[in-house]
Amino acid sequence: MQAIVLDQFGGVEQFKMRELPDPQVKSGEVRIRLRCAAFNPVDWKMREGHYGGNLPKVLGADCSGVIDQVASDVKEFALGDEVMAMPFGQGSNGAYAELLTLPTPFVAKKPNSLSFQQAAACPLVSLTAYRVLIACRAVREGDSVFIAGAGGGVGSIAVALAKHRGARCICTVAGSESSAQFLTQQLGINPEQIILYPGLNHQQLCEKILNSNQGRHFETTCDLVGGEMKKLCLDLTAYSGHFCTILPESETFDFPIWTRGSMTFSKNLSFHCVFVGAEAFSPRREAWHIYAQQLEEISDLLNKKILVPPQVTHVGEFNVKTVSEAHQLLQQGKVKGKLVMTVTS
Ligand SMILES: NC(=O)c1ccc[n+]([C@@H]2O[C@H](COP(=O)([O-])OP(=O)(O)OC[C@H]3O[C@@H](n4cnc5c(N)ncnc54)[C@H](OP(=O)(O)O)[C@@H]3O)[C@@H](O)[C@H]2O)c1
Repeated sequence: MQAIVLDQFGGVEQFKMRELPDPQVKSGEVRIRLRCAAFNPVDWKMREGHYGGNLPKVLGADCSGVIDQVASDVKEFALGDEVMAMPFGQGSNGAYAELLTLPTPFVAKKPNSLSFQQAAACPLVSLTAYRVLIACRAVREGDSVFIAGAGGGVGSIAVALAKHRGARCICTVAGSESSAQFLTQQLGINPEQIILYPGLNHQQLCEKILNSNQGRHFETTCDLVGGEMKKLCLDLTAYSGHFCTILPESETFDFPIWTRGSMTFSKNLSFHCVFVGAEAFSPRREAWHIYAQQLEEISDLLNKKILVPPQVTHVGEFNVKTVSEAHQLLQQGKVKGKLVMTVTS
């Protein structure tokens, strides 16, 4: 098979198209012939070596395709099934390839209403948003929710899940008029619930957001951006509220959460750090079943059109130029929704 291989950590010039042996299924696995792969910010962070790991490797944490090989002990999938999958943590290789093998918990049937491009864009961001809003402390009917970074892949699914759960007010921040437009036009967010952040200091931004929620703090706040947005979210969380972040910070990030009098203690907050790959990186097979359950629920919501896939932008065909362009766009923060490439059509 052809695959785009990373030999050294570094810039996009490290990607090389190479012929590799076709992967073969092991017990509990299926093989997917890829139709599309989607890009995530974690891809460029892995390319630069932020997560370490062995080289050479094939990156790519999201895909859709057709099953073309099934281990004899697998009953839930058959040859020819159209699927979407998250090859992140387990599997023969990542999604920048024509073929990959994966244990079944990371694979779900493609919802019929979705194209292969849309399906490839769903697994990682949906699983992350699901963890943020449902898996730990479910957003309840009538809750007000604040989402920093709603225009991104995770954010767009998080907004849909919050609405589905009956959240009363969803406030988001946007980096530009075009981001705000994306949020209103693509995600159906009321323009009054979108706050443009450029030019506002922390205090001004905080006041503006609280005003848009009738002066009330939020039962749930979600930091999908990191840095200052993490501090903002904590300021905006109500007493006994729930704060969730998907971004770790560097050691120099100065914000006390454990000390007496810190915001987390003084407001009796619950605190949730989400890593979508947590159980996927465990060698224990039993730990992986959580993905099967959550992917099934996400698939069901997509099938019922309660959840809509993120807006996708097709970057190009399966080649080094497409992958390089997608990495550059993600790294520049210029992406709204999700970027995908077609592998075979
Ligand atoms: N922990 C996990 O398991 C996990 C899982 C998935 C993703 N992540 C991480 O979470 C982040 C978001 O992922 P994604 O896939 O949604 O990324 P994405 O599609 O690139 O979206 C990022 C969004 O953040 C917004 N943004 C950027 N700077 C901002 C700021 N200062 N204030 C408010 N919003 C800002 C952008 O909107 P504007 O244009 O409006 O600024 C953009 O829509 C990435 O860093 C990713 O690596 C973590």
